[in-house]
Amino acid sequence: MGRYNFDTIVDRTNTQSLKYDFAVQRGKPDDVKPFWVADMDFEIPQELKERLVERVNHGIFGYSESDEFYFEALKHWFEDRFQWSIQQEWLVKTPGIVFALAMAVRAFTKEGDGVLINQPVYYPFSLVIDDNDRKLINVPLIYRDNSYSIDFEGIEKAIVEHNVKLFLLCNPHNPVGRVWTEEELKRLGDICISHNVLIVSDEIHADFVWDGHEHTVFANLGESYAQQTIICTAPSKTFNIAGLQVSNIFIPNATLRRRFVKEINKAGFSQLNTMGLVACQGAYEVGGPWLDELKVYLQDNIQFTLDYFAQHFPKMTMLRPEGTYLMWFDCSQLPLTPEERETWILEDAKLWLDSGSMFGKDGEQFERINVACPRSVLVDGLESLRRAYEAKGF
Ligand SMILES: Cc1ncc(COP(=O)(O)O)c(C=O)c1O
Repeated sequence: MGRYNFDTIVDRTNTQSLKYDFAVQRGKPDDVKPFWVADMDFEIPQELKERLVERVNHGIFGYSESDEFYFEALKHWFEDRFQWSIQQEWLVKTPGIVFALAMAVRAFTKEGDGVLINQPVYYPFSLVIDDNDRKLINVPLIYRDNSYSIDFEGIEKAIVEHNVKLFLLCNPHNPVGRVWTEEELKRLGDICISHNVLIVSDEIHADFVWDGHEHTVFANLGESYAQQTIICTAPSKTFNIAGLQVSNIFIPNATLRRRFVKEINKAGFSQLNTMGLVACQGAYEVGGPWLDELKVYLQDNIQFTLDYFAQHFPKMTMLRPEGTYLMWFDCSQLPLTPEERETWILEDAKLWLDSGSMFGKDGEQFERINVACPRSVLVDGLESLRRAYEAKGF
């Protein structure tokens, strides 16, 4: 065993946990096992906890701002992990990535403008477009032989046809688990640059990229790409600190950055919360060894789940993710409608998953399961699904 024990089960109930404490309020059975929202059931590294405790013990929580040590922590992280060299003036901090996506939509488009996405994709992508009265232009990913790819021709055609101004890119992609290659991103970038479309690259899952794959920061493709993009990063998924709400957005293009900052100012946001700043800096400074061990554990969970599906669920196909701890499985061979399947999973299997239709119509034959939990919790969930599967005689 390594330095950290990811098998420990921490009781998360009664902690105002979205994942564990709100099933009934959200219309789910009381005894449902939650494998939905994308946070983890692992405690943060002890070294990071100590940083937070130390700050709490100081006892004053007035307005706070990031300093040069905060920036240095970020700089080292992105250099070491992604060979990406950031500059201080590029950084704009926001209380979350979805907030940044919404700000980008508002800053760079006007009502009625087309904003492009590739469904199935993380559902707030469509919400920030719809809620801001922009036109959602969906060019679905291509699904073939249990694998997803980008429809480049479709994207170019849609950009021209709908006068698209902005593209929300999910890189790595939630929920399908693709880690876009440098070649794919370049091709995408070239299309966008040639039609003057800005690319917002949501890279929140960049730290969870599995063996044999590599994350490419979109801005690292070259100067012309960097000038055309807004890179959204966060320590929140990586270190399980989403509740502390801190994201680091990098905008190398000064004109775009000014427009983005103005939009944030218009929304009335200025400083991040103190604990978020402490957690972000601390995580990037001391969290590396913990993350490296966690990644091994998560890859074992992923392999276990793949094997379990292959052995027990002949009519459900689990896709192997290249990145993220979210797994996406194809239920198209089950003799159930998506609605019947939802009811079966919730009421018979007693699992709370994210149903594929949340990610757009293109996802409705799928389900998403979050495997970032102790192995015994995962086994318990999968066994529950197996009992329900066998009872149905699929
Ligand atoms: C692709 C993607 N972007 C953004 C988020 C959420 O970001 P935040 O909590 O910082 O708004 C998630 C969470 O699951 C996600 O998967």
